[in-house]
Amino acid sequence: MPVPSLLCEIISTTSEETKAAGEHFATLLKQGSVVALRGGLGVGKTCFVKGLARGLNIPEEITSPTYTIIAEYAGTLPLYHIDAYRLKNDDDFDNLGIHELFDRGITVIEWSENILNSIPVDAVIVAIDLIADNKRRIRYMKTTDRFPHCVEDPSFQAAYGRKS
Ligand SMILES: Nc1ncnc2c1ncn2[C@@H]1O[C@H](COP(=O)(O)OP(=O)(O)OP(=O)(O)O)[C@@H](O)[C@H]1O
Ligand SMILES: [Mg+2]
Repeated sequence: MPVPSLLCEIISTTSEETKAAGEHFATLLKQGSVVALRGGLGVGKTCFVKGLARGLNIPEEITSPTYTIIAEYAGTLPLYHIDAYRLKNDDDFDNLGIHELFDRGITVIEWSENILNSIPVDAVIVAIDLIADNKRRIRYMKTTDRFPHCVEDPSFQAAYGRKS
């Protein structure tokens, strides 16, 4: 996979701010968008997805599908929430046939580092790092210069600016 380039970076100091970031981000996504989440254990990936689900008007409580690998929710668009934590490699992912769902809605993948070759090149990478106890850095990145519909959206530019 090519080296990602940074689109923008935001700092979150509370879990609610991380949810708000996810909620706003959801409004920029379109059918077929794939979001690859990166970041270590407990860094706030599911928290971000909870906000994203709120942005898609999904009423259910989101929990990590660590054992089931995938959870599907009905919202403004269908949300496929994947947790690749227990997958060892891309073969494990391929065998589940999940990539066939990518076109049907919005797919968000936690622990995307485990299945790097299965992530479409035009996916948006959302990398979360722990900076201090409650402080997180959220970086939006792309692997190519061909920005997809969601980040070309003027509201994304207005909300975050563009750094690359
Ligand atoms: N700024 C913040 N953003 C996100 N979460 C925060 C923040 N500050 C504290 N937290 C807490 O950190 C925890 C993050 O948990 P979460 O399940 O979202 O992480 P995760 O990255 O999905 O973990 P896992 O690796 O197990 O999937 C929550 O308990 C949340 O309340
Ligand atoms: Mg999680």
